[in-house]
Amino acid sequence: MTGLSVAVLAAGKGTRMRNARPKVLHDLAGFSLIGHVLRTADAIGADSLVAVLAPDAPEVEAEVRRLRPDAAIVHQEPALGTGHALQVALPALRAEGTVLVLYGDTPLMMPATLESLVARLRDEGAAVAVLGMRPPDPAGYGRLRLDGAGRLVALVEARDADADLLATAACNSGVMAIDAARLRPLLGGLALHAEKNEYYLTDIVALAVAQGWRCAAIEASWEEGHGVNSQAQLAEAMAILQVRLRAAHMENGVTLVAPETVHLAADAEIAPGVVIEPNVVLGPGVRVGEGARIHAFSHLEGAFVGPGVAVGPFARLRPGTVLEQGARVGNFVETKAATLKTGAKANHLTYLGDCEVGAGANVGAGTITCNYDGFSKHRTRIGDGAFIGSNAALVAPVEVGDGAVVGAGSVVVQDVPAGAVAIARGQQRNREGAAPLLRERLKVLRERLKGRTPPASG
Ligand code: UD1
Ligand code: CA
Repeated sequence: MTGLSVAVLAAGKGTRMRNARPKVLHDLAGFSLIGHVLRTADAIGADSLVAVLAPDAPEVEAEVRRLRPDAAIVHQEPALGTGHALQVALPALRAEGTVLVLYGDTPLMMPATLESLVARLRDEGAAVAVLGMRPPDPAGYGRLRLDGAGRLVALVEARDADADLLATAACNSGVMAIDAARLRPLLGGLALHAEKNEYYLTDIVALAVAQGWRCAAIEASWEEGHGVNSQAQLAEAMAILQVRLRAAHMENGVTLVAPETVHLAADAEIAPGVVIEPNVVLGPGVRVGEGARIHAFSHLEGAFVGPGVAVGPFARLRPGTVLEQGARVGNFVETKAATLKTGAKANHLTYLGDCEVGAGANVGAGTITCNYDGFSKHRTRIGDGAFIGSNAALVAPVEVGDGAVVGAGSVVVQDVPAGAVAIARGQQRNREGAAPLLRERLKVLRERLKGRTPPASG
């Protein structure tokens, strides 16, 4: 959309989250609450963005700058209500086009809905267009008052609404599109509500109507308008978002065997044909290629899973993991900053950190890349077609050449040349026929120890 400036209001205190973290920085499926709002603003092509923040929230400021470096940031101090917040933002807003007001704590708005709202404003030549909704628990929300012809004439805060309005009217989601050219006079007309010491942005609707300017409203699903003020509401937002994400991926051809048990970050990229078994978590930054299968109870973040790869069950892929076509990471395998090239396998009980495993290489059960010396991380390189026997410790920095073999139980501290066999463990000695003798000696020892055991007390 062109000519669209977005104002994100986020100067509220958020004390009901009951912790030290600023409310809008709480995580929702891999992005902060305000991060979701900024992503949505990007999706609708907002060409400028203003964030209204409290002056004492440097982390929120950093998050806005990280995600939208061109954003204007304005401080609201003291916070005198939503109307005051937009007054503070006004100098940073474009004087023409459309201003869209979003809340930093309302992360689930769909781009298409916001586009419809702006389109309605523009089509009707309205001064203000409001997004209504009908949540299951409407307590506390402002209400949309319509006239006999169904036109929006006012927004009424719940405390000022009569029983009839409370019972029948749609709720105000808080999202509004406003004709920028008329925003200044509208905000200039706001009066302080002394009882709350606030300027209500919602009052601009009645002010516009008094000017003879048209106002409009559309309704969205209540889920989109779900705001986060408490931990319980954060969990509800997560539930709503998960339902939405799972549905979108299934619609796209991904098989979720037990969808309600799969937890997805909002940015997961999953190719059609991928199968995800029950109880899988995809954290942020995961891409899964065509035909891959994620077996049950696997946890992935920041990982690329190539086409035809099988992961888990019970695998943990940490950031920087790259599994190329046909690689296999089995149960109780942890990877971090590890590339497994085409067809490489680590099937059981292994830690692969800061390493590269060559094409077709096989890493035996219990193998560990010892990548950390307590101070620094070091890299391990395993060549194409190499075979690492079970329970090897590869002490990095170290390199195992192409086609080399490392014997089971080896502690490898020196590079192994390509094609070599490395065995680095205590030498085995067999004493012929010694087993019966050993058993006899152990029996005698046991009897002697028994004789020494003090009698059981009590
Ligand atoms: C507001 C609306 C109400 C609507 C509800 C939807 C008003 C007067 N009322 O009520 O009709 O149903 O949202 O959730 O607008 N904020 C600031 N500065 C302030 C006050 C608020 O930036 O001085 C920000 C908050 O951080 C938040 C948003 O504005 O992101 C909404 O503020 P909040 O106090 O939650 O509004 P409500 O009173 O719930
Ligand atoms: Ca609120």
